[in-house]
Amino acid sequence: MCERMERLRALEKPLLSWYRRQARELPWRENRDPYRIWVSEIMLQQTRVEAVKPYFERFMDAFPQVKDLAEAEDDRLMKMWEGLGYYSRARNLKAAARIIVEKYGGCLPASFEELKELPGIGSYTAGAVASIAYGIPVPAVDGNVLRVISRVLGDREDIRRASARARMERELGEVVPASEPGAYNQGLFEVGALVCVPGGEPKCGECPLYDLCLSGRNGRWREIPVKSPPKPKRVEERTVLLIEKDGRILIDRRPPKGLLASLYELPSVPGHMTPEEAVAYLGLSPAQVSRAEALPSARHVFSHVEWHMTGCRLVLSPEAPADSLLDASIFPGAFFAEREELAHTYALPSAFAVYKRLIG
Ligand code: ADE
Ligand code: SF4
Repeated sequence: MCERMERLRALEKPLLSWYRRQARELPWRENRDPYRIWVSEIMLQQTRVEAVKPYFERFMDAFPQVKDLAEAEDDRLMKMWEGLGYYSRARNLKAAARIIVEKYGGCLPASFEELKELPGIGSYTAGAVASIAYGIPVPAVDGNVLRVISRVLGDREDIRRASARARMERELGEVVPASEPGAYNQGLFEVGALVCVPGGEPKCGECPLYDLCLSGRNGRWREIPVKSPPKPKRVEERTVLLIEKDGRILIDRRPPKGLLASLYELPSVPGHMTPEEAVAYLGLSPAQVSRAEALPSARHVFSHVEWHMTGCRLVLSPEAPADSLLDASIFPGAFFAEREELAHTYALPSAFAVYKRLIG
């Protein structure tokens, strides 16, 4: 135990001197504005740095301050998030922004505990914001940090277990330097992103922690971190419908709870249907459909579910009553949207990307 803490204590020097030289210039590192750092950390939770960059810049242009986010219109907020996935992150950002305006005068609280109380902010994000923006010496343990530190320590505890994270937070909490906690935590992210990479061989020869590391020299990085396999995901088979009428596209709204809550979507029906089966399922008469064609299949993987999709394009004939589908109570919240509105107003989650491209 003592040896373990000594090893952790010894990280600081090589890590900080390496980080001073190697830190990437990233848009959220331009200053220490807590709002920018918070938004970047939320985006970075499930998305790679390179993918986040353009979203981050656009988001900051659209909502430059906490109060702009607090007042954001939901459709616009979702449009800004379109393609990033895990949309509850955006909803929580807005909910937290409102609290920050009401309770803290528009300024994020400079306290790990108060940050952690805000919607969408867990111990990792609270630690990142507190240390980077406010210089508070607390750890910020994400998947990258778990990987790097487990390897340095030769720790074979299953990193999927909450206890592994809790222990690492407790131990790192004792060694985060009070002088530069933000650089220390970001140094660990940076080693995880650039050197001790996930999936593939870590670049131990370039690693500032090599001399301290119990996994670099002996190839033990192949076995560490230990991570138990995920639970198998539930598979849902759906047929996604591109229903066109007079050049407009039918879109629907998802239920307010659950996967992709309250987001817009292309309507779909259960199972894999041929165009003819879909027409029959929707109760349309053949005369109401001027074109029916099968579209390619697609898959989308969420955290707990996998969608296996096929698709159909159904062009309704001009004579078909405009509300023939809207009345049918199959898609109670659905409406026809202009292509222009799909491009600029309504966010369609990436799960529908294959079909969205076919809208043209
Ligand atoms: N991943 C999570 N937080 C990060 C940060 N602040 N910089 C780079 N990568 C990160
Ligand atoms: Fe990772 Fe290798 Fe560095 Fe150890 S020496 S932390 S295994 S990159």
